[in-house]
Amino acid sequence: MESKIKEKIKHLTDKINEHNYAYYVLDQPHLSDAEYDNLFRELESLEKDNPELIQSSSPTQRVGHPIKSGFQNYNHSIPMLSLSNAINEQEIYDFNQRINKWLEQKSTSYIAEPKIDGLGVSLIYENGNLVRALTRGDGYTGEDITHNIKTINAVPMVLRGSNHPNFLEIRGEIFMLKSDFTKLNEVRSQQDEKLFANARNAAAGSVRQLDPHVTAKRKLSIFCYELGASKGLDIKSHWEMLSYLKSIGLPVNPLAKKIDSINSMVIYHQDLENKRESIPYEIDGSVIKVDNYLLRSNLGERARSPRWAIAAKFKSKDAETQILNIVLQVGRTGVITPVAKIKEVEISGAIISSATLHNQDEIDKKDIRINDYATVQRSGDVIPKISNIILEKRPNNTVKFDIANYNCPSCSSTIIRIEGEAAYRCENLNCKAKVQGSIEHFCSKNAMNIDGLGIQIVEQLMDSNLIGRIDDLFTLSYDSLVVLERFQDKSANNLINAINVSRDTTFPRFVFALGIPNVGQHISKILDIHCQSSVEKLSTLSLEDLENIDGVGLIVAQSIIDFFNSSSNRDILNNCFTNGVNINKTFFENSGEFKEKTFVITGSFKTHNRNQIKELLEKKGGNVAGAISSKTNFLIVGENAGSKLKKAQALDIEIIDEDQLEKFIN
Ligand code: IVH
Repeated sequence: MESKIKEKIKHLTDKINEHNYAYYVLDQPHLSDAEYDNLFRELESLEKDNPELIQSSSPTQRVGHPIKSGFQNYNHSIPMLSLSNAINEQEIYDFNQRINKWLEQKSTSYIAEPKIDGLGVSLIYENGNLVRALTRGDGYTGEDITHNIKTINAVPMVLRGSNHPNFLEIRGEIFMLKSDFTKLNEVRSQQDEKLFANARNAAAGSVRQLDPHVTAKRKLSIFCYELGASKGLDIKSHWEMLSYLKSIGLPVNPLAKKIDSINSMVIYHQDLENKRESIPYEIDGSVIKVDNYLLRSNLGERARSPRWAIAAKFKSKDAETQILNIVLQVGRTGVITPVAKIKEVEISGAIISSATLHNQDEIDKKDIRINDYATVQRSGDVIPKISNIILEKRPNNTVKFDIANYNCPSCSSTIIRIEGEAAYRCENLNCKAKVQGSIEHFCSKNAMNIDGLGIQIVEQLMDSNLIGRIDDLFTLSYDSLVVLERFQDKSANNLINAINVSRDTTFPRFVFALGIPNVGQHISKILDIHCQSSVEKLSTLSLEDLENIDGVGLIVAQSIIDFFNSSSNRDILNNCFTNGVNINKTFFENSGEFKEKTFVITGSFKTHNRNQIKELLEKKGGNVAGAISSKTNFLIVGENAGSKLKKAQALDIEIIDEDQLEKFIN
């Protein structure tokens, strides 16, 4: 009897999964909604009577329990990079030219895909079973959203077919169809709930729910488009990979196309832009990707984006509006930005009420005045900006605007324009907006990641004189917090805990958190390797030492020198360390083995890409240069090495191939 029921359960499960596959992957549904619902209900009722037969991968188990303790963070096994942009056709041609030059070939095959305006996700399958789904996060660490991704019927809980790799990571984009977004907002408006500004925000809000029941009610879609980390797959090209994804049951964008010349790429891009409105989901451009994986690995990556792909963006959308006022904002570095307050307009579903004017030069160049009519432009996630003044419509009551007539909007100090810079700055070290901005930055997610220290709490702690600088955070006590308005036993404890947890940190987080002008996350990582995770060492480097680091230019070097020259900054650092900030050195395992050795890398490699090899060599203290010179000690060669190999041979430089390399770096 039991085996009969078991069989029936399996049969129903297979039918439901088959339907999902036909619907989401093949786009050829063979069941009506009612037929599908009947199968689902039948399965539910069988499982209800026989709970011991419920499989965790059953379609009925997609919606699980709410998660209680917030999202858990996981490191991505390979960073989730972003794409660099081409903003016009010329830049598409430039991309192709760069690729051909680098690969030393006449032409390259590409795959073109729509660039979906959703959010990147990583799906991890072990032996064919979905085990985890992560958001992109900062590209290195993402949040565990498995409970919500499971509610999306288009994502198979078990992959089709057999012999799946024991580890397979797939990357794709979660999005909401325009029609589902409109319906969702209609319902929210009927229920007097806040509307989502656009489909992307609605999708993002839906995957970041603690309760999967909420996500399950939102209709989310997915297209998969890249391989992340995997073991035991032998796929040689992107095109092959896309058809592999389809074969194992993952939805792939049917508009993906193989392109064999850059001219056809430009046509694909124009075509897509023309039919943008009729595509059922939001797209903001096309993506061009090198097809061949070996060539991709030869091209490698820049800091945040691969060299083998580019996002060709559509022209941004404009809307007409009127400038009602111009106000000033002061950022954490003291830069004063003029912002136009505009009559509200809608662009691609988002309501815009202010737009940046960048700086006084921009205002002067475009003769932007209060009360002028203007076009406001918004592209992607970028802050909206005033792109044009409609002079024909200029009213009589326009008012010119000059930042020089104003003081700092936060502390009222005189503001000054530093020679050679477009921006005005507030130089007052104690300016509240600057201090508050720097503390908010210090606590932010990609910096010290102190949960619970958002804008309002930082302001409250400053107003209560509990903090005036970042180091004060580490002297806060439960007793000082619990007496404050809005704080209770639990919230005071939580904050103290979050601060305690943040004390154990890494060099890149801490250095980025300090908010040294021009030192972002990427530069902080470069400095980490160079300084072997020692902030002390960083503080002793000279301008020349800093400039000699690959990836650090004069401006960054000077900012670092200026930062450490300030006695109050040194004081802040000392206090942080005496109050328990501890820089973890695990990130860096320098053996110093290759100290003072210079390497050049050329060709394509099977197991590592060039950037990874570069990092491995640098971790051991080596120096990696771009061109062969008499100073080069070793040339690392992969397949298809070109002129560099000849030059190295001529200069009698030691040559290391991929097999030798493995021994060399391990
Ligand atoms: S490829 C390194 N393909 O755009 C390769 N990304 O700025 C990155 N996106 O974070 C992914 N459509 O979330 C790729 N067809 C597509 C895409 C796509 C949208 C998103 C993705 C990524 C961002 C890049």
